[in-house]
Order: sequence, then C-alpha cells, then structure tokens
Amino acid sequence: MQEFYGRVAVVTGAASGIGAGLARTFAAEGMKVVVSDIEGDKAERVSAELREQGVESIAVQTDVGDRAAVEALADETFRSFGGAHLVCNNAGVCLGASAHESTDADWEWLFRVNVHGVIHGCQAFIPRMIEQGEGGHIVNTASIGGLLPAGPILGVYTATKAAVVGISESYANSIEPHGIGLSILCPAFVATDLINAERNRPADLGTRAGELEDILGGGFEDGMTPETLGQWVLRAVREERRFIFSHPDMRPAVQDHFDQILADFDWAEKQSL
Ligand SMILES: NC(=O)c1ccc[n+]([C@@H]2O[C@H](COP(=O)([O-])OP(=O)(O)OC[C@H]3O[C@@H](n4cnc5c(N)ncnc54)[C@H](O)[C@@H]3O)[C@@H](O)[C@H]2O)c1
Repeated sequence: MQEFYGRVAVVTGAASGIGAGLARTFAAEGMKVVVSDIEGDKAERVSAELREQGVESIAVQTDVGDRAAVEALADETFRSFGGAHLVCNNAGVCLGASAHESTDADWEWLFRVNVHGVIHGCQAFIPRMIEQGEGGHIVNTASIGGLLPAGPILGVYTATKAAVVGISESYANSIEPHGIGLSILCPAFVATDLINAERNRPADLGTRAGELEDILGGGFEDGMTPETLGQWVLRAVREERRFIFSHPDMRPAVQDHFDQILADFDWAEKQSL
C-alpha cells in the first residue's frame, strides 16, 4: 500500500498502547481514522484528540470477541467514511500463567480476544475491501511470542499469538491476488498498559491474580514507544513487509528456535537410512 492520504484506517484496541500509537501515526499521514476499543470512553478521547488536529475520526466501542460487534464496526466504518483501506486487528490481552496451570476460562478469554478477534476483523472487512476494489492492507498484531516460546508464564498467550501468525499467513495467500497486502506485527516489549490487561476480562470468566507484573513489568516500562512502533509499521506497510519486528536483537533467539526444529529434521533423516 503506497497511498495513505485521504484513505481510511481502522484500528482495534486503539484506546491505549500500540493501537493508539498506530491511530496517531495514520492520522498524521492524513488518513481518516476509526478508533475502536472495548473501552469506549478512552477510544472517544483518542478520537477527539485526532479531530482537534483536523483529522476525520470516529470512535466505535467494539468487543472484538463478538462477531456481530465487529460486523457493526465495519458497517459504521463504511457508513461514515465510505470504505476501509488499512485495517489493524490489534486488540489483545495477556495473562501470566503456564499452560498447565491455566483454567478453561483463561484459555477461553485469550482465544476469544487474541485469536477470534483477529478472525472477526478479517471476516468483517476483507470481503468488503475486495468488493470495494481499491486494494489495501491488513496488519494483524501477533507478538514475538508467536514465533518462539516466551517462557512458561506466557503459555496461553504464546499459543494465541502462534495462532495469529498461522491465520495471517493463510489470509495473506488468498487476499494478495486482490491487491490487499498483509503484515504480521511481532513486537517484543513496547511501553503500553498490557500488564493491566485483566481490566477488560469479562466477569463471567473470573479473575486471576497477576504474576505478569512481577515477571514482565519492568520490560514494558522500558519498552519501545508506541509512537516509534507506529512509524515502523507505516514504513513496513509501504514496503509490503510480511513480518514487522520491533526488536532486531531477538533474532538469535528466533534463530535458535528454528535451528532446534531443523535439528529434528536431521534426526528424521537418519531414521530413514
Ligand atoms: N506491549 C507489548 O510489549 C506487546 C508485545 C507483543 C504483542 N503485543 C500485542 O499488542 C496488542 C496491543 O496491546 P498493547 O500492548 O498496546 O496493550 P494495551 O493494554 O495498552 O492496549 C490493548 C487495547 O486492547 C483493548 N482491548 C482489550 N480487550 C478487548 C476486546 N475484547 N475488544 C476490543 N478491545 C479490547 C484494551 O482496552 C486496550 O485499549 C495486543 O494484541 C498485544 O498482545 C504487545
């Protein structure tokens, strides 16, 4: 995607952190911006800030885990701005627990938001973007944890983000012929409010005392700023990059992980001798 000015960006999870950084970056490029989040008041504040700068923006309260709500977000986007060109399925939540200690409710919540949220965004927007025939780009927020095991306390989270990578690669192949690109955003630490993700956990899915803050808290505070990441995303979309990484110093860890996988191919080759 080369043209941004006057085109329409939609960002989920845009009331805070990375999503707000993306919304501000796209607004500065002259895009019309739909600021979507489950936290409606905060989304409205971000949208109002953009409007004060002369940007055309609306806020839409959306729970991405709810298919009908995401369809309504697409309806509202097309009604207000007549199209969608850059859709960022970014809303996500995190919890600190190993896979075997996580409850059914933990798995349900993280898969509902992190995985089904991305699927819902793709399902609601991609057919309309194909029909609109103006090309565009999808950015799905995974995590560096989607490519390598991020340690025992992020068991469920890592699984959801690996799913986002796989889902995104499947979509990428089928939408490319329609002139729609796709990037998979795989950040490491970014300074956001993800540490407090439990604030949006539905009451019917219980609560979990957070080990997350003890183990990861400092990492978020010292992380890249969402504004810098927004600039990187903009450049990567322009250059049609498939993966967008925030921390090049994670490369050796990813390399090690894939080397381990390849080593098991070596083992399999020896078995067939
Ligand atoms: N911060 C990091 O270091 C980091 C690293 C890798 C990946 N990520 C991913 O980046 C994305 C953005 O997270 P962030 O770090 O900016 O955290 P954040 O908590 O600051 O922002 C996440 C936003 O998502 C919203 N949200 C939560 N549940 C929702 C739902 N059901 N429907 C709609 N919106 C919902 C929250 O209200 C919040 O505004 C997430 O997918 C996260 O997994 C973050």
